[in-house]
Amino acid sequence: MPTLNEIRSTFLNYFEKQGHQVVASSPLVPRNDPTLMFANSGMVQFKNLFTGVETRDYKRATTAQKCVRAGGKHNDLDNVGYTARHHTFFEMLGNFSFGDYFKSDAIPFAWEVVTKELDIPKDRLVVTVYHDDDEAADLWKKVAGLSDDRIIRIATDDNFWMMGPTGPCGPSSEIFFDHGDHIWGGPPGSPEEDGDRFVEIWNLVFMQYEQFEDGTRKPLPNQSIDTGMGIERVAALLQGTNDNYATDLIRSLIEASANETSTDPDGPDKMHHRVIADHLRSTAFLIADGVMPSKDGRGYVLRRIMRRAMRHAHLIGAKDPLMHRLVPALVTQMGAAYPELTQAKSLIEETLKQEETRFRQTLERGLRLLDDELDGLADDVPLSGRAAFKLYDTYGFPLDLTQDALREKGRTVDVAGFDEAMAEQKAQARAAWAGSGETADATVWFDIADEHGATDFLGYDTEAAEGQILAIVKDGAAVTSLSDGESGWLVMNQTPFYAESGGQVADHGFVRRLDDEDMIAECTDVQKMGGRSIYAHHVTVKAGSFTTGDAVGLEVDHNRRTAIRANHSATHLLHEALRQALGDHVAQRGSLNASDRLRFDFSHGKAMTPAEINQVETEVNDFIRQNTPVQTRIMTPDDARAMGAQALFGEKYGDEVRVVSMGRATTGKGADGQTYSIELCGGTHVRQTGDIGVFALMSETASSAGVRRIEAVTGADAMAMLRDRDMQLSNAEQLLKASGDEVAVRIKALMDERKTLQNEVAQLRRELAVGGGGQKAAADRNINGIAFAAQVLSGVTGKDLPALVDDHKARMGSGAVLLIADADGKAAVAAGVTGDLTDQVSAVDLVKAAVAELGGKGGGGRPDLAQGGAKDARNAEAAIKAAEAILGG
Ligand code: ALA
Repeated sequence: MPTLNEIRSTFLNYFEKQGHQVVASSPLVPRNDPTLMFANSGMVQFKNLFTGVETRDYKRATTAQKCVRAGGKHNDLDNVGYTARHHTFFEMLGNFSFGDYFKSDAIPFAWEVVTKELDIPKDRLVVTVYHDDDEAADLWKKVAGLSDDRIIRIATDDNFWMMGPTGPCGPSSEIFFDHGDHIWGGPPGSPEEDGDRFVEIWNLVFMQYEQFEDGTRKPLPNQSIDTGMGIERVAALLQGTNDNYATDLIRSLIEASANETSTDPDGPDKMHHRVIADHLRSTAFLIADGVMPSKDGRGYVLRRIMRRAMRHAHLIGAKDPLMHRLVPALVTQMGAAYPELTQAKSLIEETLKQEETRFRQTLERGLRLLDDELDGLADDVPLSGRAAFKLYDTYGFPLDLTQDALREKGRTVDVAGFDEAMAEQKAQARAAWAGSGETADATVWFDIADEHGATDFLGYDTEAAEGQILAIVKDGAAVTSLSDGESGWLVMNQTPFYAESGGQVADHGFVRRLDDEDMIAECTDVQKMGGRSIYAHHVTVKAGSFTTGDAVGLEVDHNRRTAIRANHSATHLLHEALRQALGDHVAQRGSLNASDRLRFDFSHGKAMTPAEINQVETEVNDFIRQNTPVQTRIMTPDDARAMGAQALFGEKYGDEVRVVSMGRATTGKGADGQTYSIELCGGTHVRQTGDIGVFALMSETASSAGVRRIEAVTGADAMAMLRDRDMQLSNAEQLLKASGDEVAVRIKALMDERKTLQNEVAQLRRELAVGGGGQKAAADRNINGIAFAAQVLSGVTGKDLPALVDDHKARMGSGAVLLIADADGKAAVAAGVTGDLTDQVSAVDLVKAAVAELGGKGGGGRPDLAQGGAKDARNAEAAIKAAEAILGG
C-alpha cells in the first residue's frame, strides 16, 4: 500500500522520465495573480506560460502544488471535518505542456500513470469528456480500450475548466474511480452523481482559449495541457478507503492530536481531530509562506482557520494550547517534500501558540455567552446578528466559527443582521475619525476602504506582485482613470509597496499594465489612508493610461528597498548598542530610515565621548558580522513587552504587533535570554544581519534638550563615506608629507609654529611702529609744561596700541601720549598719561576729544590708559589738536 509521499514521488518521477521539468510548488500567496487569494490549483504559477506572455527554458513541467481553498471563490472551510473529502489544504499533482504536447499525449500519459504506475484496476475507472469533444472520446477508446458507456459526455461547466472569470481555459476530461456498490452514488452525469461512490481523481484540461473580461474567448497561441490530481483522493483509494482522513498522512496527524490530548482518535472526539488535522496543514503552510494572523485579508482567513481549530481543541478538553504541539508530526510527514515547512518550524509553532494562548482567554466566556443567548431562543430561531457580532467584536469569534458551533446544534445565525452590525460599527468609527479634524478629502478614502476593505501588504516577502486597481483618486476626488502625464493615487487590492510609517520612508517603483507592459506609471510615494487601512500609491503616468479594474504589475525599486532595509535593521542594532554603552535611560525619540542614511534621536543628557561612539560603532558592526537571521513574530503588545521588546515612540499599537528580533548575545533578552535586539516594528528588514554590510556613524549632535541625534550610513553608502574620508586624509598626507598617525602630530607642530610666528610678527610690528621704517616718531611737543607725543600709525591694529603707549611712557618718563592707528578701514585711538600727571589730566579725556574729532563716539579706560575707536583717521590732525587743547587747559 503506497504512502502518500510515495505516490507523490511516483507521479513526479514518471513525468520527469517523460521529459518534464520538476518544478517546486509555488507559494500559497500568488504573486503573479491579481485576484486570487491563495494558490488553488497547479496551473496558477504557469498562467503566463499558457497565455504566451512568458517563456521558460522548458515546455513540459510537473509539480506537486500546495493549495488552499478557504477564502475567496473556492471556500471549503465550512464543510471540513463533516465530509470525507473537503479540505482547507490539499496537494494537487499535475503535468503541464506549454504549447508542446496536447490531447493525444496527455491521455496516454494519464492512463499509464493511473493503471501502470499506480496500479489502479482498469475496471474501476470511468472517464468524462466535454460533450462535443469527439477527439478526446476517441482517444480514450483507443488508448484505454474503454467501452462507450464508460466514456461519459458531459455538457455542463463541470467539463469546461476555467481558471477564473478571466484567463486560460478549455474543455476537460476527468477520470473517476468507482469505490463500489457498498457506497451510495452514481456515475458522473447521473442523478446520483453527488454520492461518494464515484470519486473524481484526475482532471485533464485541454487549454485552448483565453477568456476576457467582456466574456469573449480567443484561441491561445498554442494548445496546452494542464492537469490536476488530488493526491489525498488517490491515496485513499490505493489504501483501500474512500475517506481522505483515513489515509496515512492525515491519519498520523489525527493520531498526534489524539495522543497529545490523551483521547481516542475514533471516539466521540473523532470529528474534532479531523478538523484539527486539516487545519493544522493549512495554517502551518500559510505561516511558512509569510501569512500572519491579522484582522483583514489573507491574515484573517488564516485566523479564521486557526480559531476554528482551536475551538475544536477546546471541545476535546485540551488543557493547554494544542496546535503548536502537533507541528513536529506535520514536519515529519511533509518537511522533506516541502523544505519551507522545516525552515519555518519554530515560527509556525510560536505563531500558533501565541494565537491559541490569546484566543483561549476569551473563548470560554464567548461560548458561555453563546449558550446564554441560545437558552432564550426557540429552536428554530436563528442567533441574532447582534449577538454574533458581539462574539466577533468582543470575543474574537470569526463568524464562521460561530456558525460552526451552531451547526453542531442544528442552528443558524442571522448573517444579514451580523453584516448590519458590522456596517454600523464601521460608520461609527468613520464618524469619530471625520470629527478628528483631518482634511475634507478624507471621506474619499473612507469610501474606498468601506467598499474594498484593507489593502493586503505583501512587501514583507516580495518586492514584485500583481494587483488589481480598485480605485483612483486625483485632486481629492475619485476618478476612473489616469492618462499619460497625469498624477494621482492608485489603490490596489494588494501591494508589495511599503507605505511610509514608523520612520521608514515609502517604497518607490513602477506600476505596469499587464495587458500592455508599455503602459507604465512611476510611483514616488505610498501613504496609508482611510484609517490607515488602505495603501494609496502616488503615481505619475509615464506612458498609456490606467483605469479602475486594470490588472497591474507592481515592482518595487529593489536597490532603494535594499538600502532602506539595511538602514532600518541597523537602527535596531544601534538602539541596543546605545543602551549597552550609555545605559537603560536611552529611549528612541524619533527615527528616519531613508534609502541614503538613517537618523536616530534618543534620550541622553550629554554629548557622547569618542570612546562611547567607538564602542557603539564597533558593537553594531560586530552584530552585522555575526550574520544571524532576523526574525519576525506577531503577538499582543503585552506579550511583546513581556518578552523584552522595545516599543517605539510615536507608534500606535493595535491588538497585535510585529516583533522583530536580531542578534545573538549570551546576556540577551527573550525567552531564551539570547536575543540581542527585540523591537516592536512594522518595517521591512534584512534577512540576515550580514546583509547590512557595514555601519558607519557620520555624526553625533544635540537634537533638543536631553535628546541626542545620530546620523549614520550602511552598506554601499557607508563604504562611499569611508572612502571619501580616506581620500581627504590622503590629500592631507600628501600636503603634509606625513602618513597615518604623523598627520595629527604634524598638524599640531604646524599650529604651534604658527602661534610663535604670530607673536613674533606682532612684536616686530610694534617695534616698527615706534621707531623704525617710514613711521618716524614726531618730536615730543611741550604743552602747558607737559611733554606730549602724538603719532598716526598705519599697519598696526588697535590691539597693538596699549603696548605702544606703554613704550612711549617709558621712553618719556613723564608726559602724555596719543596714538591713532589706521588699519583695516577703521581708526583706533589710544591715549596714555604717566602716573605723575594723572591728577592733572586724564587719558580718558584725551581719547574722548580725539574720537569726537574723528567722527566716532565715546572712548574709555583708566586715567593712565584709555582707548576708543572711529570710522577713519582722515581728521587725525584735528584730533591731535583737540588733545592738545585738553592739555592746554
Ligand atoms: N487546473 C485544473 C484543476 O484545478 C487541472 O482542476
